Amino acid sequence: MRIVLASSEAVPYSKTGGLADVTSALAKSLAGSGHNVTLVVPHYPQLQRQNGKRPLASTGQPLQIWLGGKIVTANLYWGTLPGSDVTVLFVDQPDFFDRPALYGNKDGDYQDNCARFCFFSRAVMEACRTLVLRPDIIHANDWQTGLIPALLEAEYRDQPGFENTSSVFTIHNLAYQGQFWHWDYNLTGLDWKYFNAEQMEHWGGLNLLKTGISFSDMVTTVSPTYAYEITTPLGGMGLDGILSRRSGDLVGILNGIDPDEWNPATDEHLPANYDAKTVFEIKPQCKAALQQELNLEVRPDVPLFGMVSRMADQKGFDLVATAAEEMLKLDAQFCFLGSGDPRYEALVRHLANTYHGRVAATVGFDNGLAHRIEAGSDAFLMPSRFEPCGLNQMYSLAYGTAPIVRSVGGLKDTVVDASPKNLFLGAATGFRFEDYDAAGLLWAVRRAAEMYPKKNLWQQLIRSGMSQDFSWGKSAGRYVEVYERVRGIGGGGGSGGR
Ligand code: ADP
Ligand code: GLC
Repeated sequence: MRIVLASSEAVPYSKTGGLADVTSALAKSLAGSGHNVTLVVPHYPQLQRQNGKRPLASTGQPLQIWLGGKIVTANLYWGTLPGSDVTVLFVDQPDFFDRPALYGNKDGDYQDNCARFCFFSRAVMEACRTLVLRPDIIHANDWQTGLIPALLEAEYRDQPGFENTSSVFTIHNLAYQGQFWHWDYNLTGLDWKYFNAEQMEHWGGLNLLKTGISFSDMVTTVSPTYAYEITTPLGGMGLDGILSRRSGDLVGILNGIDPDEWNPATDEHLPANYDAKTVFEIKPQCKAALQQELNLEVRPDVPLFGMVSRMADQKGFDLVATAAEEMLKLDAQFCFLGSGDPRYEALVRHLANTYHGRVAATVGFDNGLAHRIEAGSDAFLMPSRFEPCGLNQMYSLAYGTAPIVRSVGGLKDTVVDASPKNLFLGAATGFRFEDYDAAGLLWAVRRAAEMYPKKNLWQQLIRSGMSQDFSWGKSAGRYVEVYERVRGIGGGGGSGGR
């Protein structure tokens, strides 16, 4: 199959969160099983330079895009995703994408985000047309590419090269909807007839996530539990109505992990490598090195709890704030890595200043340290309010680090609680708590701290975690099933169908 994947971020070129890991890993896995995959991403030159990457080769095919009544030009560069046959097309438009960050700065989101990503979505379609990619499937991801399924239906369907193209739209996070005021609708370039509550309009404004949901032939999200949660008023974030209507075309496919990036046996960021056979011998070295690096007391006997996360309300930092004092009554250490909401940045800095040698806080984005925290910690905190899938809990399992998670979304689908029954069955892999409150988090942290010195039990937990299979093969196979289901139906599924 010819598959075009469109995403606003992809490792190793750009990343703010899990979307970047998932885009590239899925592309590689699909290409590995023989599909013809083209990945289209914006070109962010400042990030490219920071990554030390070489300048890219031009396709020699500039694009001219209509945007809000003007023509905006873009260059199209190309490359190959490392370690794969995936062709990557980079949409180069310096005014829109040559910025220090992907979506915004300290003052909030960039004011022209609607224009930037309407432009990008149109550029994806124009790239398909001018390079004659003739895709069977265009797979768009999150609000930044939500306009794509609508463009396919409303403008491109009758153009040569798109006769057999179907669209799939993946929701990675319903909390980010690309909601803009109604006048921004002009930037879509589409007829105002689509600006209605069934398709693109939401609370009087333009909603690009809703657009992707309503026009695509099939909608996926990143775990089975989240696929259910988002059809309920509690988890639907205002879009549960439309998601319920499309529930026959909505599937949850669990993300996988990319073994080229996240494998303790080969990870170049670690001071020493290990696998399931050597974990109990080598992991203590990683822990000691991490304690040293972060100025924590170098003590093998205390459990070290790690947390690597975007600092957003989603991730449960308010629970950490409330539970911190009690958690620190335990003989335990904590290390935090993250950036985002200034309140949570201040929180972790405050904890590190107050509890010298027991709490470490690194505010910023540091991929190498994220890997070392996964390997050097004994347990990993993910007390999310909601979590579409979550990758860090899976990385933790692979790295022999027990995840402590709230029972929600993908966390519920991937972590088996250390209840007496599950321990007895040898199925337990981590610690789960149900209600979103500090008491739940504290209960789970205490259970982990109490189990940690019981070496037999702890080692059994770690072994079960490390034996889990989160490889992409299975998940990519599910995407192929979805592609097969919509292939050639040409718009029959979405509400935008002709
Ligand atoms: P989300 O996409 O909601 O942020 P995920 O768990 O799916 O959550 O993915 C987060 C990804 O981003 C992981 O690969 C994680 O290691 C990485 N990450 C998050 N914050 C940081 C940070 N401050 N430094 C380095 N990596 C980070
Ligand atoms: C989102 C979600 C996260 C998910 C990631 C990749 O950012 O918050 O749970 O793992 O996308 O799908």
